[in-house]
Amino acid sequence: MVPTHIGGRIPETVRTWPGALRSAHPQTSFAAIGAGAFAIVDGHAPDCRLGERSPLARLEEAGARILLLGAGFDSCTAFQLAEYRIPAPRVDVSFAVMTPDGRRWHTVRDTSISEERFAELGAAFRDGTPGGARPGGRGRRTAVRPGRRRRLCRRLAGRTPAQGWVRAVNPAGEHGGSPSPRGRSRGEDGEMTTTTRAHSFNRAAAQYAASRPSYPPALFDTVEELMGRSLAGARVADVGAGTGIATALLRERGAEVVAVEPGDGMAAQFRTALPGVPIVRGDGDALPLATASVDLITYAQAWHWTDTARSVPEALRVLRHGGALALWWNIAATDVPWISAQSERIAHHCGVTPPPTTRTDDRGAARLAGLEGLRLTRRQVRWSRTVSLDLHLSNISSHSAFLVLGEPGTRAFLAEERTHLRDVFPDGEVEESYEVDLLVVRR
Ligand SMILES: C[S@@+](CC[C@H](N)C(=O)[O-])C[C@H]1O[C@@H](n2cnc3c(N)ncnc32)[C@H](O)[C@@H]1O
Repeated sequence: MVPTHIGGRIPETVRTWPGALRSAHPQTSFAAIGAGAFAIVDGHAPDCRLGERSPLARLEEAGARILLLGAGFDSCTAFQLAEYRIPAPRVDVSFAVMTPDGRRWHTVRDTSISEERFAELGAAFRDGTPGGARPGGRGRRTAVRPGRRRRLCRRLAGRTPAQGWVRAVNPAGEHGGSPSPRGRSRGEDGEMTTTTRAHSFNRAAAQYAASRPSYPPALFDTVEELMGRSLAGARVADVGAGTGIATALLRERGAEVVAVEPGDGMAAQFRTALPGVPIVRGDGDALPLATASVDLITYAQAWHWTDTARSVPEALRVLRHGGALALWWNIAATDVPWISAQSERIAHHCGVTPPPTTRTDDRGAARLAGLEGLRLTRRQVRWSRTVSLDLHLSNISSHSAFLVLGEPGTRAFLAEERTHLRDVFPDGEVEESYEVDLLVVRR
């Protein structure tokens, strides 16, 4: 084995330990020993030295702790993962690769990384003081403010107890209606809390990915119109990205997207659906993103889970001047008689408030979304999709009201609902109609 000269004794000991596994990167290889070694070193992409497709991201997911022995924060590689998690320049990186024909020089495009300010960041992290990241110059490349970085390093996947409101929901749960604090947010005595609902998706992430409606092309046309630029080449943070439904569509439009998602299950599903797309664990109340770093922040059916006293200033901080915040919800069209009847049945069964039959006016929507006084435009986009009865039932039962209701109650509802819907759709094909309620704020 070729000795290394820069790693030091401990890395060298691990690297040469009998049975140690190495990741495949020709230049920035990691070594691991022990039961989880393969999961950590597997899949290290040549064009991702220290990002999502590197062992560093696997370590962060596993809740790794960092022990700095005789080394300072200036050499703490963990910070480099954060550099991949902000929109950062990409550069040519060259290294030698062993091929059957001998050593060959190989060049890839990878994120530009620099440890220039790691000592300063480390000091801020240790002291818990702000100031590790200043906007402008190289400092802009600091992905996570020190307080946040502390959280990132500790991998706090969950979120603080919800202090905000839950949007007025259609009876199936977390989406629909106009914003209002009518969602249930109750105490600790075993009753449902907002946090419980916000995290309920994690248990049903695969079901969510398979059955939830997507968003129509006209929605993205409208977002482009209201943000005053094309999505192609735009830097976008898709917050509350869930399983990646909106992220994928934004990328199809040519946007460079970083996803932000607090939930374990949703993030895992996201990684399966969109391998290699950057996803950062965090939430809208404390965005793990640099100041003035993105052109657009999107919240597809997720804004209502945030505390707007925090998420509004956070969005304004992270947006570049001239950027936009776009929030939207697919709302079941309750002017369609069978949908309205179903909404009533769900409300009754789950014990939640039925959806409003009329849309909240624009001023009310702005107030309830915490966006009063900002440059806000609101639009609606109507669309529909035809799905099998099974998929439709799977879709409605993936809503948070059912996820917190539990299986027996959900099963009972679905059995009865199937009978109702067979009368309306004897051929077993259900036409779901939606109106996307879109709010766009220009910074
Ligand atoms: C209804 S799902 C929407 C997922 C995805 N955007 C889509 O369009 O399918 C709501 C998402 O918001 C996430 N979430 C919950 N609390 C959040 C918060 N405070 N900030 C951001 N996202 C949050 C949940 O984990 C979940 O993935």
